[in-house]
Amino acid sequence: SGLGRGRASALANANIALIKYWGKADEALIIPRTSSLSLTLDGLSTETTVEFVGNGRGAMPPAQRDLPGVPDRTSGPRVAASASSGRDSLTIDGVQQSGKVLDRVSKVLDLVRAQAGINAPAHVSSTNTVPYGAGLASSSSAFAALAGAAAQAAGLRPSRRELSRLARRGSGSACRSVYGGLVKWNAGHDDASSYAEPVDNSMDLAIVVILISNREKHVSSRDAMVRTIATSPLYESWVQQSGKDLDEALAAISTGDLERLGAVVEANAMGMHAAMIASRPPTLYWLPETIRALGAVEELRGQGLPAWSTMDAGPNVKVLTSGRDAERLADELRSMLPACRVQVHRPGAGLRVFDESG
Ligand code: PMV
Repeated sequence: SGLGRGRASALANANIALIKYWGKADEALIIPRTSSLSLTLDGLSTETTVEFVGNGRGAMPPAQRDLPGVPDRTSGPRVAASASSGRDSLTIDGVQQSGKVLDRVSKVLDLVRAQAGINAPAHVSSTNTVPYGAGLASSSSAFAALAGAAAQAAGLRPSRRELSRLARRGSGSACRSVYGGLVKWNAGHDDASSYAEPVDNSMDLAIVVILISNREKHVSSRDAMVRTIATSPLYESWVQQSGKDLDEALAAISTGDLERLGAVVEANAMGMHAAMIASRPPTLYWLPETIRALGAVEELRGQGLPAWSTMDAGPNVKVLTSGRDAERLADELRSMLPACRVQVHRPGAGLRVFDESG
């Protein structure tokens, strides 16, 4: 592949965590405090094209040639890592980006450039079916697609595990979107040991998304995590409990027990929110409709429908249910919550990469 313009596209689906990732052990490498479990969903996706421009195969100064995760210059605070990062361009849904958003993308591109030994800037364009920054997991699909497209365009041929590690460096949850269906992210203790892998199962799952607001969140998940760790007296107990919750969830999955899975999924998410609400100052993503939605889910469950709530860094409620019951549950929720958009999402596929080099 070392010839011509390196260009590739990738398509990734967002994932929703069933057992949450909340808090980093290593900020720079994005090593989480806890392992997590998620479901990759159809219909919430990002497609990204990366093209390295100019004489992309130019050698880099030796000092910059290092592998992702080697704890050297890639793990320290980086301002402008390479000369080329300032020249990357990015459009999201047709809108030219700059500042923080572009910097985050350039950081992932820098890891790819370092590994491939190139210094060319890249044009990146990305389109989403997920509203951006609204707690609908847009960063999970976005950074998985970026990792896949950038590595391919640079001529790397990473394994799935290497792609998962690379996606993790953009946004933690993105490491799980490399795979379809149920996925576990092993927290690990360093770059090499922190990656996602698929979880074998025969469950018929779906997620009903109750969209309460698609406005961009007021506090990023990244900042909210830092604040929770630094100031919440409830955080360490959530960490302890989350390890047990993951074991419980995996046991439920291995026996195909949706009731058991749903109960621990809901409890884990509420524990995470309790920890962030207890941080100082508090981080509260909830809106009045959030409470109504949580109540509606509980009520429908009382009527015998399988339905358990989970929430991420935003006011929206996602409801774990069975594929069989998903449409009926969605109809009930629509009539109980007329102000909300309610949509069924089935399990989705993992990352797909397409080489388009000339
Ligand atoms: O990947 P980030 O940094 O956007 O963090 C995601 C955090 C949650 O969505 C709240 C939980 C999770 O595991 O996805």
